[in-house]
Amino acid sequence: MCGIVAYVGYKKAHPILIKGLQRLEYRGYDSAGISVLNGKISTFKTKGKVAELENYIKSKDLDGQAGIAHTRWATHGEPNQVNAHPHFSQSKSISIIHNGIIENYAVLKEELVSRGYVFESDTDTEVLVNLIEDIRINEKVLLDEAVRIALCQVVGAYAIVILSDEHPNTLIAARKGSPLVIGIGDDDYYIASDATPIVEYTKNVVYLEDEEIAVLTRGEELKIRTTKNKEKTPYVQQLEWNLSELEKGGYDHFMMKEIYEQPRSIRDSMRGRLNPVTGNVSLGGIIDYEQKLLTAKRIIIIACGTSWHAGLVGEYLFEDIARIPVEVEYASEFRYRNPIITEEDVVIAISQSGETADTLAAIELAKQKGATIIGICNVVGSSIARATHAGSYTHAGPEIGVASTKAFTAQVTVLTLMALRLAQLNGAIPKTRFMQLLHELDSLPEKVEEVLNTNGLTEHIAKKYKDVNNFLYLGRGYNFPVALEGALKLKEISYIHAEGYPAAEMKHGPIALIDENMPVVFIAPQLGIYEKVVSNIQEVKARKGNVIAIVTEGDTIVRNMADYVIEIPKTEEYLVPILASIPLQKLAYHIAVLRNCNVDMPRNLAKSVTVE
Ligand code: F6R
Repeated sequence: MCGIVAYVGYKKAHPILIKGLQRLEYRGYDSAGISVLNGKISTFKTKGKVAELENYIKSKDLDGQAGIAHTRWATHGEPNQVNAHPHFSQSKSISIIHNGIIENYAVLKEELVSRGYVFESDTDTEVLVNLIEDIRINEKVLLDEAVRIALCQVVGAYAIVILSDEHPNTLIAARKGSPLVIGIGDDDYYIASDATPIVEYTKNVVYLEDEEIAVLTRGEELKIRTTKNKEKTPYVQQLEWNLSELEKGGYDHFMMKEIYEQPRSIRDSMRGRLNPVTGNVSLGGIIDYEQKLLTAKRIIIIACGTSWHAGLVGEYLFEDIARIPVEVEYASEFRYRNPIITEEDVVIAISQSGETADTLAAIELAKQKGATIIGICNVVGSSIARATHAGSYTHAGPEIGVASTKAFTAQVTVLTLMALRLAQLNGAIPKTRFMQLLHELDSLPEKVEEVLNTNGLTEHIAKKYKDVNNFLYLGRGYNFPVALEGALKLKEISYIHAEGYPAAEMKHGPIALIDENMPVVFIAPQLGIYEKVVSNIQEVKARKGNVIAIVTEGDTIVRNMADYVIEIPKTEEYLVPILASIPLQKLAYHIAVLRNCNVDMPRNLAKSVTVE
């Protein structure tokens, strides 16, 4: 969703800002803009991609060592040049960029209109910048104080950065409910909505907390105070990301790069947490909450999208391996359905970005009701990571492709470690069996490498089915969530309608769709209720459906029935979701590429969904 980048220092601002916007493109947006200060503020905005903005400003005078830039994902007002950020105050003295939504903007706007303010755009952001200007003039206060007073009147979420011609060496930034990272250079500052535009300049960052206002003046120390006017000491942290993780590294798309990173990302998610020799599993971040998890009346997993699918796998893992009851809920439903939550419940919130608005709101609700909240996040310092009582990071590294791949397998890996740790503590499985499971998990990255080496098979299948209109994905048990995830990957990046179902549910409706044009993807490893899945495959074949099956290597039964089989190595049932989801990611990728779709930035989608 919307992206923020800002700079103040002694370097030319605009190349830093444009590069920053390019790094933020993965978040999804529909317009872009930039303001640079050189005596007066010059602002340029375009609808469409950052490349169009870059083109537009080529011949413009953009000298200046302070500036702000933004990619906008429309909420208030259509995506066009006028509504794009930055927005000026009426006097053109203050320019602002803003992520989030000011909920009471209509009331504030009415008041400002009655005092003579005229608005150019439909945005809530233009209301905020004029409110700040109005306070500064009427209350005769400095700009940072005007910002503070204005933010006290605002209801909603914001991450803002302000540039003013009265303070040419200073930026003012503030956040509530929308992330903001400050990069500290030698004598300059970078600001962004996530760390990706900052990594190449500095590893020293401060994550602004909710209701904090930062004043950043080049060559001076960072000053932070709260909207309640309390001074804060900046807490400087080290970024763990590398620049190479933000580049495509020879791949055509980030998605493919991230699919191929999975042996590494899964290994990193297990690093230091699993010892197959001593039989030890430990997740440092939740050590103090293990007893709480073991004695919980139930665990409720909340998440959205792909993370919700990981949560569903988690349900099977926790109940099967650790014998602890689990419910999995869409965060967006949970937050509005007046759920029964008590202090005996533990909520596990799963989120790659750590910024998903619905997941954050569901966490707040569960917290108010006294539940303990554990997070599984990928982005260090993210809002969800900070809103939870404890948690475990997934360590998948930055995920740039909008379609989640390595984050999903890392989430399932961490859930697997959690389930094993709880089983170890509560003795839900015998020691010898526990050791077997641990060994199998330890060997998973090598098996993932084998799966990735499918020698063009998924591409070949993609060529055959790239022009169909519908796909069905079927699986049972641990593989039902895999079917859902496979269908989601296909629909979001190729725009082919796809549905995932538990295979046995087919007879209760979807079977009506089967004909010679319908490809049906089965996840059918020789484990669990394999024979039942084989029967489901026969039912599809009897109706002339096309079957693409993910099978255990060496399976001849399904091979004799299916149109295509993709083999995965033999493994324990509880690890199949990770192995089986990888060919489905590749299949979706190849189909999308063959259909000329924008794989890394599918239409209408955003990488972190910061609005509900
Ligand atoms: C799908 C996808 C989305 C996200 C969902 C939740 O590929 O990426 O469905 O999984 O928006 O996002 P996070 O995990 O950041 O909370």
